[in-house]
Formats: sequence, C-alpha cells, structure tokens
Amino acid sequence: MSNYSEIIGFIKKQFENKEFIPLHEPRFSGNEKKYVLDTIDSTFVSSVGAYVDKFELMMSAISGTNKSIAVVNGTSALQVALRLAGVNHGDEVITQALTFIATINAIIYNGAAPIFIDVDLDTMGLSPNAVEAFLEEFGEMRDGECYNKKTNKKIAACMPMHTFGFPVHMNELLKVCNKWNIPLVEDAAEAIGCEYHSNPIGSFGKLGVFSFNGNKIVTSGGGGAIVTNDVALGIKAKHLTTTAKVPHPYEYVHDDVGYNFRMPNLNAALACAQLEQLNMFIDSKRILAQEYNLFFNSKGINFRTELPQTKANYWLMCVELESKNDRDSFLKETNKNGVMTRPIWQLIFKSTLYSRYQKDYQFNALYLEDRIVNIPSSVR
Ligand SMILES: Cc1ncc(COP(=O)(O)O)c(C=O)c1O
Repeated sequence: MSNYSEIIGFIKKQFENKEFIPLHEPRFSGNEKKYVLDTIDSTFVSSVGAYVDKFELMMSAISGTNKSIAVVNGTSALQVALRLAGVNHGDEVITQALTFIATINAIIYNGAAPIFIDVDLDTMGLSPNAVEAFLEEFGEMRDGECYNKKTNKKIAACMPMHTFGFPVHMNELLKVCNKWNIPLVEDAAEAIGCEYHSNPIGSFGKLGVFSFNGNKIVTSGGGGAIVTNDVALGIKAKHLTTTAKVPHPYEYVHDDVGYNFRMPNLNAALACAQLEQLNMFIDSKRILAQEYNLFFNSKGINFRTELPQTKANYWLMCVELESKNDRDSFLKETNKNGVMTRPIWQLIFKSTLYSRYQKDYQFNALYLEDRIVNIPSSVR
C-alpha cells in the first residue's frame, strides 16, 4: 500500500489537523466541573454520596436493567459478576482469547480457568457456533449442570466480550447457553450504549459489566458498573462490593468476605456529567464512522461497520488490512506521522501466563489478530 500520506492526511483532517491525533481522548463538555466541585463542597468525596446513587439509576436506565452497582473499575466488576453468576474455585468459564487481559484475569481471580473459544469474523466477539461445537464435543450434563468431559470441571459461566462496541450474536449465544444451562455474563466494558435487536447490550446476561476507564466513551476517571435484571442478585452485588457490611446504625458486622470496590462519589460525579452526554457522544462518533467508511471504501480498505439489527457505539473504530505485512506498515507509517493507531490485542493464550488453558482452533481470532488496526476514534 503506498497511499499512506492520503490516509494520514484524511485522519488528521477529521481532527482539525492537529500535530498528534490520539486513539481516544476523553471529552469534558458538560457539567463535569460543576458536579465534581459539588462533591468537594459537600465533603462527600468518598465511598458514599448522592452522585453514586444517581450514577446507578442512570446506568440502569441506559442498560435497560433493574439494578446497577457502581464499582471502582471494570475489572473488579467482572470479578464480582462472575462470582455472583456462580463461578467458584476449580470451575471453568467459556470466553474468547481475542480480548483485553482483564476479561481473563477476572476469571483467574475467582480461582477458575478460561476456556478459549473462537470469535466470529463479523462481530469479532465470541462465536455461538464455535461455543456450540465445543460443547457438542466436550460438554456433558450432570445433574442439570454442564461439565467439561476433558477436564472433569464444571463450566460455570460463559462470558462474551462485545469487541470495540460491536455486539456479539446474542440470540444465538443465549440459545446455546440455555441449552447447556450455562449462565451468561456480558463483558460490555467497551459497549455502553450499544443495542442488539433494539435491546441494550448489558441486559442479555445474568449480569453485565461496563468500564468507565479514561479511554472509554464516557469516563469517571476510573470506574465500573455491574448491571442485572435480577434484583436479588443486584442487592448481593452491592453488599459484596461494599465490604459485606450488615446495615446497622453503628456496629461493624460483616457477613461475608466482601470487597472494597466502591466507586468514590468524586468519580461518580464525573461519570454522571459524562453519561448526560452519552447519546451526543455516540452520535458524533457515528458521523465520524460514516466519513471513515466512505473514505476507506474508496481506498479499497475494509472499515468495520455495525451489522444489521445492531447498534454499535464505535468506541474504537477499526480497519481490516489484507495481511499482517500491510497491517505492520500501516501501524508504522501512521504512528511515525503523528496518527496514533494500535493493533488488536495479542491473543491471550499466546501469553505464557495463559498458554496452558484449553482452546479450540481459533481460526478467526488468528485471522483478525493479524489484520485489525484501531484508528483515532475520539468524540469530535
Ligand atoms: C473488554 C474489557 N474488559 C474489561 C476491561 C476492564 O475495565 P477497567 O479498565 O475499568 O478495569 C476493559 C477495559 O479497560 C476492557 O476493554
């Protein structure tokens, strides 16, 4: 490919021809300062406060769920969501190897093991067909629960990840999980505001998880949310993430080994101001996606767009290059010229930490790993 200067020029033009174009920078254009100062004025900067409550209500509305719990980051949200879905020491969790490391770490924190199943080429997320094929070969029902015949371990959950804000094929995945009685936990860390068949992503599983890290579309500085339609489970999630303290006017009694995963009110204030702008941010990103799509198509490069009956939030936009060589020169030229681009994650089982876990053939994940590149995607 030789037309890098045109590509670099086009991307720079989308961002006012700045010298350096980051991949995704936060945007603070609403009530951020006002709400953060409110917390300082009120002295409620720490683990409880009105903005935490407000954030939880806003997240329930956005994710279309009955209960939402603010936590300190997306990783801890995943850890607790898996525990509440029933994942225990010695269990296994079906997930994808094409993901950010936190998805897998959260499984390990629970003493469980990942099973790496391939992704679909179109969604870049967990493939229902590949999950089904794996379960047909290795699954066995014992007293209503699914076991892995190869390891003799219980498959306690299935955790798809909605890569870069492109929804997984949820109907098909739910069908497979229901057939094998495997609870589903959505890693929707990257997928706030996404929809699948008109329903919000995050609302399909037993529990769903979002991240509000600084690189996401809306940020609390650092933060996460657990969402669920099961109110009893939601109450348990709040209890567990707030040190499992039994409510009492002054006594300290804790009835479980809980976590201090509370999102500070200071961070919740920032998050509330950001969530007020979520729709506007996504609209802005969708316009950029349209412009990218026209441009890259005219250059014969595949720009990733949402599938029918889904709404992507276009968190990190991506192009699919024809080969690893093309990918490498794209990365080299853009980064050298002030346009930040990044490859998709290295497949997790390639890390020595995680190489010993069971996996399927991974054809699609390997294909995408060599070709997908994220391009600047900030809200303009
Ligand atoms: C897919 C995925 N899962 C989990 C996380 C963890 O979220 P956090 O950084 O808020 O801990 C992230 C991103 O940060 C992510 O992209």
